[in-house]
Amino acid sequence: MTNKIQTNSPLVDQFSRTISYLRLSLTDRCNLRCSYCMPPEAAHNRTNVKTGKFLAHSDLLSYEELLRVVRLAVAMGMNKLRLTGGEPLVRRGILDFIHQLSLVEGLEQVRLTTNGVLLAEYAEKLYAGGIRYINVSLDTLQPEKFKKITGYDHFADVWEGLQVAKQLGFKIKLNVVAMKGVNDDEFHDFGRLALEQPFKVRFIEFMPIGEQNSWKKEQFIRAEEIQRMISELGILTPFQKKHGEGPARMFDLESPDKRKGAVGFISPLSHHFCDQCNRLRLTSEGKLRSCLLNDKETDLKSLLRGGASDQEISRCIRQTILDKPQGHTLQDDLTAEQRPSCGGRMSRIGG
Ligand code: GTP
Ligand code: 5AD
Ligand code: SF4
Repeated sequence: MTNKIQTNSPLVDQFSRTISYLRLSLTDRCNLRCSYCMPPEAAHNRTNVKTGKFLAHSDLLSYEELLRVVRLAVAMGMNKLRLTGGEPLVRRGILDFIHQLSLVEGLEQVRLTTNGVLLAEYAEKLYAGGIRYINVSLDTLQPEKFKKITGYDHFADVWEGLQVAKQLGFKIKLNVVAMKGVNDDEFHDFGRLALEQPFKVRFIEFMPIGEQNSWKKEQFIRAEEIQRMISELGILTPFQKKHGEGPARMFDLESPDKRKGAVGFISPLSHHFCDQCNRLRLTSEGKLRSCLLNDKETDLKSLLRGGASDQEISRCIRQTILDKPQGHTLQDDLTAEQRPSCGGRMSRIGG
C-alpha cells in the first residue's frame, strides 16, 4: 500500500465522462491464435520472439511498474480494473500480481478477460485472489470449429474451465464475436446455453481493428439482427445495468417453457456507446490509450523508466484523459477502402 496521492479533481474528461475503469493488457502473447486478433505473421509464428512478432519481456511493464500506475490511478479516482491480454493467464507471476492488487486501497474490483484455456487450472487461485467476475471469449461451441478459429484444439479445456469457475461461484460472461458464415449458425445454441447455464452470453459486433486485420464487411452482422435471431428462442426484456457496467445492452431471456437466462449485445459499430465510456487502457507496450478505436497513445513506459515522479505520472494520466476523443467514427456500412486507422494490435490493446 502507498500513501494516497493528493488530487484536486475527479477524472472527468472534456465531455463530462468520469473515467473510473482501467484496462491493463498484461501481455500480447496468447496460447491461441484467433484469426481476427493476431496479425497473420504472428499467427503463423508460434514461438519466435526474436523477430519482433511478440514483445520481449523487457518491453512489457514489470509488475512493479504496473502496480505503481494502478496505485496512482486509483488515488486519482479509478476504482475498477480489468486484466486482459493477449491472454493474461500466460504471463508468469500473475497470481502474485493479483494478490498485490488486492492490497491496493480504493481499488474496488479486479476483473479478468480470458480465453479460458487455463481457467480450470487457475480458477481456484483466482478466486482466492479476490477475482469474482470473469469474461471468457468463446466464439463457437463446436470443437472442430474452435480449432479452425483459434488454431488449437482447446475447446474441451475452455469448457472444463467454465464448469470449474461456475462451481466456484464466479460471475461469468461469455464474449461471442459475431461473424457471418463462421458462427451465425450457432447463435441459437449460444442463446440456449444462456438458458441452461449461469453464463451471460454477449454477442459482439465484429470490429475492424488491428494491422492487416481480417475484418470483412461480408462477415459483419448487426447486433439488431442477432437480437432478432435470439428473440426466436423466447421473450427478451431489457434490464438496467449498474452505472459503468460495460458497453453491452443486456436482456433477460425467457423461453416458452419458462427457463431464464441473460444475453447481451455489444454494438460498437451500429450503436455507438462512446458517450458513456468510462475507460482508459494501458497497452502491453506500456502506452496509455484513451479509446479502443483511436490509435492515439501516450508513452507511459518512457516516463516510468525515465525517472518521472508520481506527480508527473499522474499528470500524464490526467492529460491522456483530457485528450480522450469524443468517440469513434466507424459505421457499420464501412467498406474495406474506407476503413479508418485503428491499426493497433488487439492482442496488445486488450480489447
Ligand atoms: P464488463 O462490462 O466490465 O464485463 O467488461 P467489458 O465488456 O467491457 O470487457 P470485455 O473485455 O469482456 O470486452 C467485451 C467486448 O467489448 C470486446 O470485444 C471489447 O473489445 C469490447 N469493448 C470493451 N470496451 C469497449 C470500448 O470502450 N469501446 C469499444 N468500441 N469496444 C469495447
Ligand atoms: N471485434 C470484436 N471483438 C473482438 N475481440 C477481439 N477482437 C475483436 C474484434 N475484432 C474480443 C475478444 C475478447 C475481447 C477482449 O475482445 O473476443 O473477448
Ligand atoms: Fe488470444 Fe484473445 Fe486474441 Fe484470441 S482474441 S488470439 S484468445 S488474445
